Amino acid sequence: MHFVKAESVIFMGSAMIETNDNMLMILGGDGYLGWTLGLALANRTGRQVVLVDNLIKRRWEEEAGAKVLVPLRSPEARIAEYERIFGKQNLSFENVELLDPKAVEKVIAKYRPAVVINGAQQPSAPFSMSSAENAAATFTNNIVGHLNVLWAIAHLSRATKYIKLGSGGCYMATDTDAVPLGKHDFAFEHEGRQHKVLQSFLPMQATDFYHQSKITDLLIDDLCSKMWGLKVMTVQQATIFGATVPENHSPERGGLAARFNYDAVFGTVINRFVCQAVVGHPLTVYGDGTQKTGLISLTDTVDNFLKLIDLDVEAGEHLMVHNFTHRLSVGEIAQKLAEIDSSVKIEHVTNPRQEATGKLEPHVEVHEAIRACHRDLEARLQAELAAMLEFTRRYKDNIEPSIIMPRVNWSPRQAAAR
Ligand SMILES: NC(=O)c1ccc[n+]([C@@H]2O[C@H](COP(=O)([O-])OP(=O)(O)OC[C@H]3O[C@@H](n4cnc5c(N)ncnc54)[C@H](O)[C@@H]3O)[C@@H](O)[C@H]2O)c1
Repeated sequence: MHFVKAESVIFMGSAMIETNDNMLMILGGDGYLGWTLGLALANRTGRQVVLVDNLIKRRWEEEAGAKVLVPLRSPEARIAEYERIFGKQNLSFENVELLDPKAVEKVIAKYRPAVVINGAQQPSAPFSMSSAENAAATFTNNIVGHLNVLWAIAHLSRATKYIKLGSGGCYMATDTDAVPLGKHDFAFEHEGRQHKVLQSFLPMQATDFYHQSKITDLLIDDLCSKMWGLKVMTVQQATIFGATVPENHSPERGGLAARFNYDAVFGTVINRFVCQAVVGHPLTVYGDGTQKTGLISLTDTVDNFLKLIDLDVEAGEHLMVHNFTHRLSVGEIAQKLAEIDSSVKIEHVTNPRQEATGKLEPHVEVHEAIRACHRDLEARLQAELAAMLEFTRRYKDNIEPSIIMPRVNWSPRQAAAR
């Protein structure tokens, strides 16, 4: 289908700004990934990095009774520590609410970033399933915040490359043997006849409202890149595991620690299991543990972003990247930890989620720019697990095992009764 490009779209009163090639903006800069990326990109590239966040996650954690492994210092305190340790002054912070379109335009106009990475979202499936209010907050936050960024870039700064964090979970319920990059032609049979769909993404199907919001914002990315000629990249990010990168791993760098959620609402599977392992609690595998998930370490995630920020994206192009290394079942993950530490016990608990277990095992295509992280997969996994265990043991006394037990159920009746 011919899509008429929108040179003719007129943004009232807009004048394009000249981007600053040296400026990277990270939305969600107080977050687990956002802070870690900011720290590593500032240190390793020497470019100016501005972190943007409204600190809303701290409130969601309080409401959900979640705690973090290492008390989370303010972004300003961590930036001062970065300056002290590394002797560099290229990291800064802006408190901005992405749901406020004027504030988003203002921060883009102030910094003129060549690259914007958006990781400022409500990132938890259980949170999105916990109540009608939290499902709505997930959609509002994840879709409207994202739209405001796209409008601001289209309005002011179309030379900016916009890198949006997506999720590998968008294919959670798509039973397929291949997850290719980009768009493809599809064939299907209906009422005895063969039909075609030309140049479409693989159908994406979620099993919770958070992932549904990620499917929606990916399609919005696609629309805006075509409609306004924006340079857009969606990084379909697998579940991340790990606590640190070289910049903040050693004990004397504890002041640079990132948010590390280990509770049942916000903690990702390996991060929860490692915390259970260090306090001697059995690893709580949901259901029979055969459900599989894509995974990648924090180390590899950050190393890959270092390559992705410099990847060329044409105006009007929507590039997709799958950021993952491993695909393991929850039971296999628990088993790996039990092999490293023989005292680890495994317990199966009722699965609070409704997860899809398909018939087909998908082959997920990897973009050539980040193929290197698919070498020595077992060694990578073992190295990150060892680093996580070492780091987590340092803060063992902060771990409250009770908050790792699941309390959010996918049934709307139980959500209403809470
Ligand atoms: N952590 C993972 O395993 C994982 C896996 C796949 C995808 N992702 C995606 O990566 C991104 C980052 O995830 P994370 O684990 O670092 O989450 P996080 O909750 O630690 O960080 C998100 C940050 O965004 C901020 N934020 C949210 N809404 C905002 C708003 N309206 N305005 C300003 N700031 C706002 C929060 O305060 C928080 O600091 C998310 O888009 C998430 O969907 C994460």
